[in-house]
Amino acid sequence: MARIGVYGGTFNPIHNTHIGIAKAALSQYKLDKVYFLVAGTPPHKSTADGISDFNRLEMVRLAIKDIPYFDIDEREIMRAGKSYSYITFTEYHNEMPEDEIFFIMGSDSLINFKNWVKPDVISEYATVLVAPRAGDDTATIEHAIFECKNMFDGDFMLIDYKANALASSSIRESFYSSDVNKAEVPDSVREYITKHNLYNKYCYSFSDVTRLDEEMKKELKPSRYIHTIGVANMAYSLAIRWDYPPINAMVAGMLHDCAKCISDEKRISVCEKNNIPITDIEYKYPHLLHGKVGAHYCKSKYDVFDEQIAHAIEVHTTGCPNMNLLDKIIFVADYIEPGRDKQPRLDVVRAMAFKDLDMCVYLILEDSVNYLNSNPEMVDPTTIDTFEFYKSYIEKR
Ligand SMILES: [Fe+2]
Ligand SMILES: [Fe+2]
Repeated sequence: MARIGVYGGTFNPIHNTHIGIAKAALSQYKLDKVYFLVAGTPPHKSTADGISDFNRLEMVRLAIKDIPYFDIDEREIMRAGKSYSYITFTEYHNEMPEDEIFFIMGSDSLINFKNWVKPDVISEYATVLVAPRAGDDTATIEHAIFECKNMFDGDFMLIDYKANALASSSIRESFYSSDVNKAEVPDSVREYITKHNLYNKYCYSFSDVTRLDEEMKKELKPSRYIHTIGVANMAYSLAIRWDYPPINAMVAGMLHDCAKCISDEKRISVCEKNNIPITDIEYKYPHLLHGKVGAHYCKSKYDVFDEQIAHAIEVHTTGCPNMNLLDKIIFVADYIEPGRDKQPRLDVVRAMAFKDLDMCVYLILEDSVNYLNSNPEMVDPTTIDTFEFYKSYIEKR
């Protein structure tokens, strides 16, 4: 008979205190294994914070991957319809009838436990282990345990653990502005949050996309507008594939060519007035400046202040060495949106965009360099630098 711990939570994001609590439960209650049961997003909760269920799952996976006895349970994310804990614990009981199940939950959940759907079923199939939260009033928790013990058949016990003052909510609110908060998540989770631009204060909704759609309809020539819609939709799809907040990617796609339909003189004057540096090749071919001017317009004209969006727009024509995830999504979406049909081996490039994003970037750069070689004086040196970077990156990896 095994002793199985199940730690339920939203883990948005998972942080060091979660890991500490699971380790404490494992040793204090001699558990053989702890499953992190990642809760689905309740139907009434907005996902406008840009954090998908898969982001949360992936962070848990990264946080526990090197810790023995820890595993992940995706069933509540994958289950269709409403997901109640009593359903999950009935399943556990049926799957592991010989084993003893322990349900690890936060003290805030315990206080509300009696109001859950069918708490008696849960406590029949699992012993509840209560994880303290920083600032808990011990008397309140002890009273809640006492009350639950009287109300239900099962057992309720406290995990001896001194919780850190930080909770997921404060990490969400100030991840980027606080080194203390950054230090509260495992390294791999910290890298994931940064790469995927999670918990950024600028998070967009579909109403932003429709607002920008109206603006672009007025601003762009019809053919450029159609291309823009193609890029925005392709960016959305690629973002889902590569776990980037998809609406943010759509906003970037929507604005990527916002400075394409203005005169060369205007592009140069916007740069000069705003101290945006202009290279020799950009003076010679000012249309190359539409990325830089577009990035400037994001903030000054369209109220889009996210730095990653501005950067992706700035570099979308040439790319740049070591692009971030959104840079790559916009660079690729611009090249493969459904309206494109002139470029070579587009079917290969399109398929690669969903299999291997870096390889896709490399293929696009290779084709761009081949094309530009027939007009050497038009080649922006950044395109060559980017090509060399990804050539060596692909060879070395
Ligand atoms: Fe462009
Ligand atoms: Fe474009």
